[in-house]
Amino acid sequence: MYKSSRDTGYCPADYHRFNSLKHITFQTILDYGSGCCMLFEWLKRSGLKFEYVAYDRREDALSLCECPTYTNIPNMLFDVVCLFGTYDHVKSTPIEEWKNTYLETIRQAKEYSRKHLIFTGIKDTIPWYTDWGRFSKQELISFCEQLNLKILMIDEETEPTEYIFICEI
Ligand SMILES: C[S@@+](CC[C@H](N)C(=O)[O-])C[C@H]1O[C@@H](n2cnc3c(N)ncnc32)[C@H](O)[C@@H]1O
Repeated sequence: MYKSSRDTGYCPADYHRFNSLKHITFQTILDYGSGCCMLFEWLKRSGLKFEYVAYDRREDALSLCECPTYTNIPNMLFDVVCLFGTYDHVKSTPIEEWKNTYLETIRQAKEYSRKHLIFTGIKDTIPWYTDWGRFSKQELISFCEQLNLKILMIDEETEPTEYIFICEI
């Protein structure tokens, strides 16, 4: 459960995960599961030219943002769709069901991309992240195979706790 509207599950001052976007070029970006739009802040500082759209189902988190926000995704395509930790806490959901929900979320997100898709998964080597599901690299590779995503890069360095998959549609 999120403790506040500003809570993203990540450390509030930690923007490192977004550096993975430097591996691709884009002008339009859908932040799928944006929370309070830390990515928008990072993009503004990056000096990149971009058009940013935030989507989340937490209206309270979106209300903190000064960018275009949606609880229903606009019917358009984006150069890149990114899902940074776009899942909920595991709670009492059986882990396989929770993982399958994430797979289906990525499947839906893919429909909005014309070129790239980025998603993350907490590494199974991180033992203390008990509120969230953790993945082996192979499980996430299998997600890509099932969704017909071409893996351009598996970034294991930018965010030490997560695998960041950079894919082409
Ligand atoms: C761990 S937070 C990360 C927020 C943001 N991506 C970041 O990196 O700061 C995950 C966010 O994804 C949202 N989320 C999870 N599943 C979603 C779904 N199927 N549709 C829309 N939002 C979703 C949650 O509401 C939450 O705000």
